[in-house]
Amino acid sequence: MEPAQLERAVVDAIRSTGLVANSRSFAAKLKVDHDELVAILNSMYRRDLVTLVQLEPELEYKLTDEGALYAQCGTPEWCLYEALHSSGPTPVSELDRLLASFWKEAHPGCEMDGKKVAKIGMQQGLKQGLFVLDKTSRPPRLVCVESTETDAVHRARCLQEGLRALHSGSAHAAATGPVQDTTILEEILRRSLATRLKLKIFSVSAGPRFDQALVEQLTDLTREMLLSDSWESAVFKAFNFEAAGVAPMDGGRLHPLLKVREEFRLIFLEMGFTEMPSNRYVESSFWNFDALFQPQQHPARDAHDTFFLTEPSFCSRIGDETASAATDAYVERVSLVHDQGGYGSRGYGYRWDLTEARRNVLRTHTTAVSARMLYEMAQELQDETARASFHSRRMFSIDRVFRNETLDATHLCEFHQVEGWVAGRGLSLADLKQIIAQFFRRIGMSRLRFKPTYNPYTEPSMEIYAYHESLGRWVEIGNSGIFRPEMLQPMGLPPDIRVIAWGLSLERPTMILYGLSNIRDLFGHRVSLKMIRDHPICRIGW
Ligand code: PHE
Repeated sequence: MEPAQLERAVVDAIRSTGLVANSRSFAAKLKVDHDELVAILNSMYRRDLVTLVQLEPELEYKLTDEGALYAQCGTPEWCLYEALHSSGPTPVSELDRLLASFWKEAHPGCEMDGKKVAKIGMQQGLKQGLFVLDKTSRPPRLVCVESTETDAVHRARCLQEGLRALHSGSAHAAATGPVQDTTILEEILRRSLATRLKLKIFSVSAGPRFDQALVEQLTDLTREMLLSDSWESAVFKAFNFEAAGVAPMDGGRLHPLLKVREEFRLIFLEMGFTEMPSNRYVESSFWNFDALFQPQQHPARDAHDTFFLTEPSFCSRIGDETASAATDAYVERVSLVHDQGGYGSRGYGYRWDLTEARRNVLRTHTTAVSARMLYEMAQELQDETARASFHSRRMFSIDRVFRNETLDATHLCEFHQVEGWVAGRGLSLADLKQIIAQFFRRIGMSRLRFKPTYNPYTEPSMEIYAYHESLGRWVEIGNSGIFRPEMLQPMGLPPDIRVIAWGLSLERPTMILYGLSNIRDLFGHRVSLKMIRDHPICRIGW
């Protein structure tokens, strides 16, 4: 029976007689399982539709598989008794054959195992006194008791009928028929033909909200209901604050790189830096290389190291949407400084090619962004008063860069670069070391070493090493330098304004902070979502 049907039956019974006096007999009347009815009653009780009063528990007997089989085909001893009764004394070795032919006639369709039944039946029947073993004959024979009215025969018949009653009447059969003889019931239990359960029985009457039974409970308040005022008479389903809810809630998590990026960003902001707009992944070679005084034959500009775009391969005009006569003039100055030098430099002495500079690349470093921002700053400083009031400027970015690298445990084709620069009058190498040390101290690295290196766009240039306390060794952490006059002065920056800059990857400190040794565990398709889910917030300091 459907739960809704069952609920209706309960409601109807209460409406007509005011009460369901006994849940067990009610279930028997409806021919449903008592447990099923009780589940519905409990649900109605929770909705205040009914009141339940628990009655004295009743016993219920449930047949085991063996008991059910005997209920259908007869107990082994009874089958044997009946077979012997009609065939007369039979040799023990022929009992199974006797049973087979007996079943064929009396119980076609019985599928009991003749050998097994003969064995159990003989044991039980001899014990109960249904037959005796005549050992005087050769071979020994089983002989039925004469009278059909002995106590033993009566009991055996009762046991068999008891099983049948339990089988057909299930729940309430124990209260009727021969099974009322408690010694028979005990025997059934002793032989494990049935088990005994204590049933919780209820009497059911109308609850405080009985009148709302069978009324559809609404879960949504709709616009139509508000407009038609039908909400006033509607019955709404009560909130169930005890409901366990959908478990487990699985919200999004921040990737470790994002957490570390946020920490770095806060440190930069606290130090008075402004974030550069770094959303331009595709850059012209001009801003990525030429503006940075990187010669056009430089090996870094090779397809081995840089991703070139095929579509579109070239940008239309350097300076893009903001291109102007001023940018054209700047491009011309860049061309000259590459070809012939200037600002105290001898240049590279080759023929700079504008087409090469228009080639689109995936930016290989965010220094391209720095170049754009410095050029913009130089334009602002063309104004006399702006120049006079200029004191210093600090900018940073943390974003993606792309390099045509061979993939290995520490290299990917793309990574995040943390880049910062400070522009000010007369800044020196001492300022560079001091500012960089200040930044790295904030990200938890206080023991630094600088090693001279070469960058086309900085002079002097220094690699930065930090002592990793838990690894117990020096690790290379970044690159830095003071931007060259060959880069800054064509932009139009006054010669006394110097720019200190440095860059590092976001991945390296993140791997150290999170104890990862393979970059592919941090970035890319192999990253375990569990790692992302389980890792705690980032704590700078290592
Ligand atoms: N652009 C450099 C790199 O890609 C980092 C750097 C930035 C070096 C600024 C010096 C100055 O490694």
